[in-house]
Amino acid sequence: MEVLRITGGTSLRGEVAVTGAKNSVLKLMAASLLAPGVTTIANVPDILDVEIMAELLRRLGCDVSHEVALSTIAITVPDRPDHRADYDLVRRMRASICVLGPLLTRTGAADVALPGGDNIGSRGLDMHIDGLRRMGAEVTSDHGYLVAHAGGRLQGARVWLDFPSVGATETLLMAAVLADGETVIDNAAREPEIVDICTMLRTMGANVEGIGTSTLTVIGVEGLRPVQHATVPDRIVAGTWAVAAVMTHGDVTIRHAKAEHLSLALEKLTLAGADVECLPDGFRVAMSGRPRAVDIVTLPYPGFPTDLQPQFIALNSIAEGAALVTENLFEARFRFVQELARLGADVRTDGHHALVRGVPVLSSAPVEATDIRAGAGLALAGLVAEGETTVYGVGHIDRGYAGFVPALRSLGADVRRDEV
Ligand code: EPU
Repeated sequence: MEVLRITGGTSLRGEVAVTGAKNSVLKLMAASLLAPGVTTIANVPDILDVEIMAELLRRLGCDVSHEVALSTIAITVPDRPDHRADYDLVRRMRASICVLGPLLTRTGAADVALPGGDNIGSRGLDMHIDGLRRMGAEVTSDHGYLVAHAGGRLQGARVWLDFPSVGATETLLMAAVLADGETVIDNAAREPEIVDICTMLRTMGANVEGIGTSTLTVIGVEGLRPVQHATVPDRIVAGTWAVAAVMTHGDVTIRHAKAEHLSLALEKLTLAGADVECLPDGFRVAMSGRPRAVDIVTLPYPGFPTDLQPQFIALNSIAEGAALVTENLFEARFRFVQELARLGADVRTDGHHALVRGVPVLSSAPVEATDIRAGAGLALAGLVAEGETTVYGVGHIDRGYAGFVPALRSLGADVRRDEV
């Protein structure tokens, strides 16, 4: 097993470049199933989840070639892909569910293992299923699998989502592009990653309107063509480096990032006392002195991203004053505060609220990451804790951050991976 060993106390300085977004590239890979032939995706992060998705596509009959050095992936999709996503892959990565929509609309059937709960909450699929049923699919659960049949082409329908779910929006969008007639998805998610997949689908020949708004209108077409597409930059990775700069009183320039995808998070860092400067291909974050505590409320985009919540709790844990953090998406995301408490953080949770009272200094301890963003939050805390912090569960960080340790080291952090 590998751990991270982080000795706190250095200010992060320099430049770091971000790669494509995990939460986009996995869906772009799934969308390739919609067209036979070779789809090429650029700006692909070198993370474990991309490998799992590549393996899943291979099992569906695709040929996948990942050029890590070039950050590209080429997916050759057969005329008739298989339609079964097995449990051994789905349990390793919930996002495997994103093959459901493309498989169903392309092949008329999909058997996708149910992902079950995970470390950040129960994460239902009801909106995916209800939407597909409205489009004429028959969806049942059988021995741990979602079994969906279209009985011909799916039919366009009007679907109102109870909540702007990222996953449900993507499933229905990908199902609708080859359906018969018009589909309207109301209360759709508007994340930059949704815009990214809509853009790719349009290049493939799909008819999608309302991109970036909460009403997506799709008129199904008979067929789509394979394309080349570059993944949108990872706003959560960029935001993580920005918080690290602020916590360590550093000065970091984050390249290949889009500040406009992080407006609210960067505004919060400014309120905490940081200088944030937008640049043509990224932004610079500099901080002197102790940050001020900032309240956070997580919400669907353009609200504050839940995937930056643990990093901001880490920031608040050493800030001047107290902050109220409200988590509205994943009920179990506060689990990580028990680990943060091992470093001396003062955090009290009650339901979906956390009260974080800043302490002047954290002290190192062994801690365990339970999901990707908890891992990032704990690593950031380790960067400012006195002494050497050991972070267990590094595999979680590897799922979402390409080259986490080299990036931190290039900014001057004292961090290394160790076998235990
Ligand atoms: N929900 C339902 N029913 C559904 C769908 C969602 O109840 O049918 C609930 C979920 O249980 C959750 C909320 O709606 O409470 C939001 O879920 P959403 O569908 O928006 O999230 P997701 O698609 O499962 C993606 C990202 C997450 C990110 C969220 C929110 C991927 C692979 N995952 O998840 O990323 O937090 O959107 O932005 O795109 C991460 O990267 O660490 C991560 C967890």
